[in-house]
Amino acid sequence: MRDAQATTIYLKDYQVPDFLIDRTALHFEIFDSHTLVHSTLAMRRNPAAKNASAPLVLDGCELELEALSIDDQAVTESGYESAGESLTIHTVPDSFTLRCTTRIYPQNNTSLEGLYKSSTMYCTQCEAEGFRKITYFLDRPDVMSVYTVTVDADSKRCPVLLSNGNLVSTETLEGGRHRAVWEDPHKKPAYLFALVAGDLERVSDTFTTMNGRKVDLHIYVEEKDLDKCDHAMLSLKNAMTWDEEVYGREYDLDIFNIVAVDDFNMGAMENKSLNIFNTSCVLASPGTTTDAGFQRVEGVVAHEYFHNWSGNRVTCRDWFQLSLKEGFTVFRDAEFSADMGSRVVKRVEDVGLLRTAQFAEDAGPMAHPVRPDSYMEISNFYTVTIYEKGAEVVRMIHTLLGPELFRKGSDLYFDRFDGQAVTCEDFVKAMEDASGMDLGQFRLWYSQAGTPQVDARGEYDAEANTYTLTFKQSCPKTPGQPQKEPFHIPIAMGLLGDAGALRLELKGEAPNPDTADNTHTVLHLKQAEQQFVFENVPEKPVPSLLRGFSAPVKLQFDYSRDELLFLMQHDDDGFNRWEAAQQLGVLALKELVAAHQNNEVRALDERLITAGRNLLNDDSLDLAMVALMLTLPTEAYMAEVMQPVDVLSIHAARMQARLELATALKEEFTNTYRTLSRRQGDYQPSAEQIAQRSLKNLCLQYLMLLNDEHSLQVCMEQLDTSDNMTDRIAALVALVNSEHEPQKALALQKFYQDWQHEPLVINQWFQIQATSHLPGTLKRVQELLNHPAFEIRNPNKVRAVIGAFCGQNAVNFHQTDGAGYRFLADRVIELNTLNPQIASRLLGPLSKWRKYLPEQQALMKAELERIAAEPKLSRDVFEVVSKSLA
Ligand code: ARG
Ligand code: ZN
Repeated sequence: MRDAQATTIYLKDYQVPDFLIDRTALHFEIFDSHTLVHSTLAMRRNPAAKNASAPLVLDGCELELEALSIDDQAVTESGYESAGESLTIHTVPDSFTLRCTTRIYPQNNTSLEGLYKSSTMYCTQCEAEGFRKITYFLDRPDVMSVYTVTVDADSKRCPVLLSNGNLVSTETLEGGRHRAVWEDPHKKPAYLFALVAGDLERVSDTFTTMNGRKVDLHIYVEEKDLDKCDHAMLSLKNAMTWDEEVYGREYDLDIFNIVAVDDFNMGAMENKSLNIFNTSCVLASPGTTTDAGFQRVEGVVAHEYFHNWSGNRVTCRDWFQLSLKEGFTVFRDAEFSADMGSRVVKRVEDVGLLRTAQFAEDAGPMAHPVRPDSYMEISNFYTVTIYEKGAEVVRMIHTLLGPELFRKGSDLYFDRFDGQAVTCEDFVKAMEDASGMDLGQFRLWYSQAGTPQVDARGEYDAEANTYTLTFKQSCPKTPGQPQKEPFHIPIAMGLLGDAGALRLELKGEAPNPDTADNTHTVLHLKQAEQQFVFENVPEKPVPSLLRGFSAPVKLQFDYSRDELLFLMQHDDDGFNRWEAAQQLGVLALKELVAAHQNNEVRALDERLITAGRNLLNDDSLDLAMVALMLTLPTEAYMAEVMQPVDVLSIHAARMQARLELATALKEEFTNTYRTLSRRQGDYQPSAEQIAQRSLKNLCLQYLMLLNDEHSLQVCMEQLDTSDNMTDRIAALVALVNSEHEPQKALALQKFYQDWQHEPLVINQWFQIQATSHLPGTLKRVQELLNHPAFEIRNPNKVRAVIGAFCGQNAVNFHQTDGAGYRFLADRVIELNTLNPQIASRLLGPLSKWRKYLPEQQALMKAELERIAAEPKLSRDVFEVVSKSLA
């Protein structure tokens, strides 16, 4: 474990490296008991360095040093100094060869950083700073080197030996061992290095690029998973085509490998030509994977592939620039998924995540700008802010520039910085240079944390036929940033009249020639308070604001409920139709929460029931939209709009509203369910089928709330006869959250028996139980920790049981006696030594303690203090705990 040092690293302290590494040759000797790493580095002083006589300071962590030499002269113990995570050699020539041998123990590496063992396979994870757990190096992304990698291992146990780039030779060695040599012609930072050794099988295909390069594609998995690679392979080829068509980006080697690994801290990793994936993000088959799982595979495969340009060819100068590659790449993969499936559904899902998880992060103790100013442990900054808000910032540039100028900007960016390690500023500048647009004020999105609040009001002047929109923006203070400047906020909008969309004539502006009908525009909100006057407006309009969620802000506009109903039906923007339904739901739920808090009985607003009925009876609507609009705002979103958060009242109110909808619309739900269950062909993860299943299963969830025999029968039948995991899981979720006790227990038991050989399915089985909103769930979760299929060292299992309970089961996690908090703190303490990254990630729900009611705050804080008092905290956990309590 790394020691908790309260050292903070600042962006303002950035300096270019004192040394460069032109060539890196690594030789791995993998043995059962240990691995030897021999490295040969061709190094020289950086001509751009400030200090021309600086000592050589190498990064290294938990390494046993066996040999060290410079130009073949051994460096003796008096010649270097080793402390913490670095090794310093005081005097070195201007240009030299450094050789060193380190001994490491992959089988004992539970942090899953560096070289580690996942069941019988050896693999690496080096981003952000894992390479220093392999050998001494300049482990920073602005040190880029050309690598040759030699791997020796036992031929039987590790028949497959992989690294980045091209395989240049193989050899049989003595003692039942063999060797493979890989060469990567592209310069890269150490975080993109990868090595895999194990007993794997592969699925292969080829792709021919736009300039005729034939690329071999391989997906390496355990033999039993060979039948689950087709979707990832198809997604990869689709992503390769899409990046050529939409960004003009072609793949640059003759081989592209993906390896699936069971034990993995995150989703996947974009190592040059050797992407390593969490099995959960690459394996998919209709029998074992849900629709959401298929979509995740498609999205993550594309994400990692897209990094080849946005991340690898052009990489980050330092880790403060992480969003340069992550925000841009998330934007790219989101657009890809939108093009492959349903654009509106994808946007609704992404905005849902942003408005719950990211807004909460931005309002909590770990709030940081898209380009942070400081950090203690960089692993803590792989956040929804860096990824999702970062993607929103790129999306706003896309909205401001339009698709053509944005493409010009991205071409310039890739062209200008190919082979370099650069900054967010470089990206924005390229966009500015290519488009001629001034993004000066826009840059604040990179440097200021916090979610802007935008209050809008509209005034119609019937005499002058003008409509005036007045916006006010502000941004709450965040740690280290007490005051904020106004942001440059793109507000995509339109005005709706009784007969449809109105033509927009913005006072003082020439009509926009791009939109033939001029019913849609993007306002540039730049001041703290700003007015926009529309002229020749024939009637009082209903404004449709922030279309497609054009900026990551909290927008407040005082719509009447009837206006929201109007927008739900008539807005041309699909996202805003959904948003109107959400806001109507928010108003109705707020009313029920208040009633619950005052011990009053109050019925759900009838208008929601009528709207729901209309949605279910209208055959012309997109089924996915119907399903989305019939889903009430989540508890997490309600927590975002009602503070302090009264978890129990929010849960009670939402349950009541759902039950009232189910009761009133029983017939409609039953009919829709029936129609949609008849309509099935062979399983396809297509937008159309996914939409059908989502609406069908939403109907089932509502019907199961009625707690009657008929619904139970329907549910059991779906569970027993479905040919796909989406429908099976939907039925099991409905059953587990119902009160049909004996059926529930039997179904869970049978499901386990049927699927115990499929770890990814068992993760779902864990998660379903951990997220049951019924009482007694914590006790069940504690039992699950002792279940033979649970492993504390496997992050997917930890996420499925502990993460799901603490992060997706508010009503049980926040049970009033604080037992949920105690449970989490105990697990964090346990994982702190095993896997600091996972421990620290789990802490999220406790860190936001200040949002809750006073009694809960006290209990949550006490658990954070108990963690803080632990004698040996990892840097990861220390940073989150100390910032949460500050
Ligand atoms: N660059 C990877 C991705 O977003 C994330 C890997 C980071 N892993 C980690 N353990 N910090 O695709
Ligand atoms: Zn990424």
